[in-house]
Amino acid sequence: MKKNLIIGIVILTAVLSVTALSAVAISHHINHENQTAESLSAESSAGHEETVNAAAENTVQSNTASHISEASKQESSEKEKMLIDENHCTVEGLDNILFDGNEHTLGISVIYQGEVLENGTDYDVSYSGTLMNPDRYTAEIIFKGDYEGTIKKDFYILPSGTEITDIKTKTGSIHIDFEPQENLSGYQIEYSKKDDFSESEIFDTESAEMSSAAIDVEKDNATYYLRIRTYLQKDINGETEKLYSEWSEPKSAELLQIAERDGLTYVDGIIIANKTYDLPSDYAPDVNEEAVIAFEKMAADAAEDGIDLTIVSGYRSYDLQNWLYHSYVEERGQENADKISARPGHSEHQTGLAFDINTTASSFAGTPEAIWLDENCYKYGFIVRYPEGKEDITGYSYEPWHIRYIGYPYSEKVYESGLTLEEYLGITSKYSE
Ligand code: DAL
Ligand code: ZN
Repeated sequence: MKKNLIIGIVILTAVLSVTALSAVAISHHINHENQTAESLSAESSAGHEETVNAAAENTVQSNTASHISEASKQESSEKEKMLIDENHCTVEGLDNILFDGNEHTLGISVIYQGEVLENGTDYDVSYSGTLMNPDRYTAEIIFKGDYEGTIKKDFYILPSGTEITDIKTKTGSIHIDFEPQENLSGYQIEYSKKDDFSESEIFDTESAEMSSAAIDVEKDNATYYLRIRTYLQKDINGETEKLYSEWSEPKSAELLQIAERDGLTYVDGIIIANKTYDLPSDYAPDVNEEAVIAFEKMAADAAEDGIDLTIVSGYRSYDLQNWLYHSYVEERGQENADKISARPGHSEHQTGLAFDINTTASSFAGTPEAIWLDENCYKYGFIVRYPEGKEDITGYSYEPWHIRYIGYPYSEKVYESGLTLEEYLGITSKYSE
């Protein structure tokens, strides 16, 4: 009774798997056309590779040319045995299976010349291994009773798929997080500007030890569609085969855009002033009131922790920055000045959204105030704009005192990413000359 129930479930699983897998065959063919030169060369360098996916056709390995022993000749002279001709023999239930960590038992049915044969009476079936892990398997059907001959059919247990859990975009790149899976060789992410994945490209992680990937694309204002599948590379009879899972549900993502309005540059709603993007010389918004209110709340909370925070430099006009920058140039030369002071039009202070806290002396680094700011300012909508070790990206030396208002909760997202604003948005900070 229990056994019948299990067999019933297994048959149902097999039937469901077939349904789920049929869609994969189509995508497989599309992929071949869309594979990048890179991924093609990677495959050919690995020697002859066969690609296998969920809908790979079963192949009949050997024929029914079994020899007839003396004993069976005698038997067949008593009763004529029917030699199975594989061309007229249909085996159902040997479709590919998706790996689910369970051992599978298959309920197959063998139909010969329109007649359903009986397992145990007309044939016995055995498999090349325990039907559990992703691999190629062979079913061997040995006919008996009124029939004779042997048929071998291949099928696969394919790796289980995964899902995209999060997508973040920048200008010119897409960062995706996915559910990591075990016992794999890697992941393939297909991305396309078309929701039917025509004209798509494949990003291959070529490693299974990851749960995220960053894909560089063109910096335009496109929407991308993405989906992911897993694969397992197997050496089967001297050939390398890639066993693919089914594709995940597709997800869409819009690239961030670098937008210009009234001479100002915005990315993701954030006004940008850095070495690449400048502000008009007549842009004079004065200090931002929202940022001041956020600062006052922060300073009040800091005071409760025994931390004293004061703004020593807030809004700076174009002309003030011009004077300040040139005094640094005079004092230490342009190359050094450019590391610590923005050229006029390039300073965040001109936006009214940046504040220098307590001092601009390098001795501020490591003080309780600097540590407090670093750990807490995101809660009030600020980020420490020029962190240590990111000089090549921000264009400026470490400034533990310079905070920039970007609003909460955006500040929390940037803080938690561990990235500078440039990295988070995918923009540069470099003077054109
Ligand atoms: N010290 C920063 C980079 C500025 O001049 O705006
Ligand atoms: Zn500053």
